[in-house]
Amino acid sequence: MKPKILMARAVFPEVIASLQQHFEVESNQDDRIFSAAELTQKLSDKDGVIATASERISAELLQACPRLKAVCNQAVGYNNIDVAAATKAGVMVTNTPDVLNETTADFGWALLMATARRVTESEHWLRAGHWKQWRYDSFLGADVHGATLGIIGMGRIGQAIARRSLGFDMQVLYHNRSRLAPELEARANNARYAGKEELLAAADHVILVLPYSKESHHTIGAAELALMKPGATLVNLARGGIVDDLALIAALRDKRIAAAGLDVFENEPALHPDFLELSNVVLTPHIASASEPTRRAMADCAAANLLAALLPTAERKWPPNLLNPEVLGRVTLSRATLS
Ligand code: 8YV
Repeated sequence: MKPKILMARAVFPEVIASLQQHFEVESNQDDRIFSAAELTQKLSDKDGVIATASERISAELLQACPRLKAVCNQAVGYNNIDVAAATKAGVMVTNTPDVLNETTADFGWALLMATARRVTESEHWLRAGHWKQWRYDSFLGADVHGATLGIIGMGRIGQAIARRSLGFDMQVLYHNRSRLAPELEARANNARYAGKEELLAAADHVILVLPYSKESHHTIGAAELALMKPGATLVNLARGGIVDDLALIAALRDKRIAAAGLDVFENEPALHPDFLELSNVVLTPHIASASEPTRRAMADCAAANLLAALLPTAERKWPPNLLNPEVLGRVTLSRATLS
């Protein structure tokens, strides 16, 4: 009997085909978003699931699904999963780090450039037929080259963003839970560690790439926006909830900061309607990792984690991206014979 799994959202068909070699797969190629009750019901007879940021794996769900052994997120962020509850329930949790670093960093730069140089705003104006003559002061933006870049959250993606700033001759400040090793700072265009307030006051462009947690909720609110330079831009690539959207809307409307580029929102995919009324914000639908090779690599990574979690062999004894290794104590018995 093959283990039973749920592929919670639509995915490249080849990924389903490859999972079917090992598992009895319930797929969702219609890409319907399941309610909490539906997801619980679907997982009640499953051994594993490949989830995305849209599936909340709560303590209640885990309790109602005692057969579940592995939750493999197809995302590097995993704030949709109650990891502590999963650990308590003996459920392995994995994510997809690394495979998306460079693609996400590329997109961070796309948003930064579009925001600072008013790319989408001027395009909308042009498409609306307003371009009658060239003017010396049309859509004056902020310079990116030679400016100070502030990165909040200096993990693998933050460092990949910093490396790219070398070509723009920028100074890099970063704020992070812990300081990087000197050799990593050197590779990240000689990034200098700074306190959050110092960074916000000094940076011309601020990029947020930190994971979402209770502690990082509203890392940027009214007080933080008030510290930023009036000509500064803010880019959020991380998660909705890291920025207080209402405070940002007020700051953009009052020109407290020049502009923002947002790939993530509180309550996405619903976004606050006032964002749509503002011309100084670039809005994208959570696509920072969306290149074809990277989305394939993320799906393959989640599948490899699920395979190792549910069908371990001597070669793939543990899921490569296990987030809660504490759980292994409870499952080692079945794996002990594999060495
Ligand atoms: C995902 C992301 O595409 O990896 C993450 O954390 O935010 C994106 O790359 C999205 O979350 C789908 O799960």
